Amino acid sequence: MTYEPAPGRYENDALYRRCGRSGVRLPVIALGLWHNFGGHDSFDNARATLLRAFDLGVTHFDLANNYGPPEGSAEETLGRVLRQDLARHRDELIISTKAGYLMWPGPYGEWGSRKSLLASLDQSLRRMGLEYVDIFYSHRFDPDTPLEETMGALAQAVRSGRALYAGLSNYGPEQTIEAVRLLREMGAPCLVHQPRYSMLDRKPEQGLLKVLQELGIGAAVFSPLAKGLLTNRYFGGIPADSRAGHDPRFLKPADVTDAVLARTRRLDEIARGRGQTLAQLALAWVLRNPVVTSALIGASRPSQVEDCVAAAARLEISAEELGRIEAVLGGEP
Ligand SMILES: NC(=O)c1ccc[n+]([C@@H]2O[C@H](COP(=O)([O-])OP(=O)(O)OC[C@H]3O[C@@H](n4cnc5c(N)ncnc54)[C@H](OP(=O)(O)O)[C@@H]3O)[C@@H](O)[C@H]2O)c1
Repeated sequence: MTYEPAPGRYENDALYRRCGRSGVRLPVIALGLWHNFGGHDSFDNARATLLRAFDLGVTHFDLANNYGPPEGSAEETLGRVLRQDLARHRDELIISTKAGYLMWPGPYGEWGSRKSLLASLDQSLRRMGLEYVDIFYSHRFDPDTPLEETMGALAQAVRSGRALYAGLSNYGPEQTIEAVRLLREMGAPCLVHQPRYSMLDRKPEQGLLKVLQELGIGAAVFSPLAKGLLTNRYFGGIPADSRAGHDPRFLKPADVTDAVLARTRRLDEIARGRGQTLAQLALAWVLRNPVVTSALIGASRPSQVEDCVAAAARLEISAEELGRIEAVLGGEP
């Protein structure tokens, strides 16, 4: 069936936030293809989820070289949808990819050498059928490669037109300061940083978010729903079609503990008091800090994207509600 995007998809101005001190506005809810978009997943469901997101105004799709499984297949899925449905809309999209984790065998298939990053980017472009990506990330800090080399590769990607912007992911505060300085000197300023951040993982509050705010760089925070724990997904047990139920690489059934469920049930009560789902409250909570440009969600079906995007209708959280949330997060389970 020929796809025609929803004509009203950009009517929701509240959905976009400026990314740091850049010229780019990103959707507060962006969709990542880490899980559910690989070669082993249903292409029809992946396509429907991507197109539903686009219809709702989600302009940012986030990938990495190794998303699948098998590695690379999420980029192939996106490439297929781009060709089939979104070819005319390339300039409406921000497509990001990354290199740094293990992708191919041998000494150049991971980490942060110039060799690895630029070869990986070329592979990603081929898989997606693109001439350029919007953001190319160093996926992780490499302690054994000079930072000048890794940042030089990102800057080269930008200068050569293969990427429009550079990004950092999983870099600590000090590493970020140094990397950002180098990228500025090289004429390829860092647009965005991707740390993991949610109600259940608050490490970026220990310095990174402040550094990003001072440097004028936006944060696109990943796993804001704690891979599904900060949703109603596990309240009735572990469904067979859930991440913990069928793909326990990064979320195991043992992670769905009574202590987590006790907390998330109390958070769910607060969410319901606001007329929201728990997922929507968890997203509003990470977005309460304006340095967070986007909450980078995953989704296993279109309805989850709908639920998450609807969070943008009510992002403000009162001081009283924040206090109650803090009591749940900080207190005894
Ligand atoms: N830079 C990095 O190192 C890094 C690392 C990890 C992720 N990321 C990026 O961040 C993206 C998101 O990560 P994530 O998938 O862990 O994010 P997440 O949003 O914390 O978790 C997504 C999962 O939550 C469940 N879910 C989503 N919306 C829901 C809703 N409205 N109601 C109920 N359940 C809902 C789904 O679980 P079910 O599948 O069980 O239905 C979905 O697969 C990735 O795709 C990737 O782009 C980056």
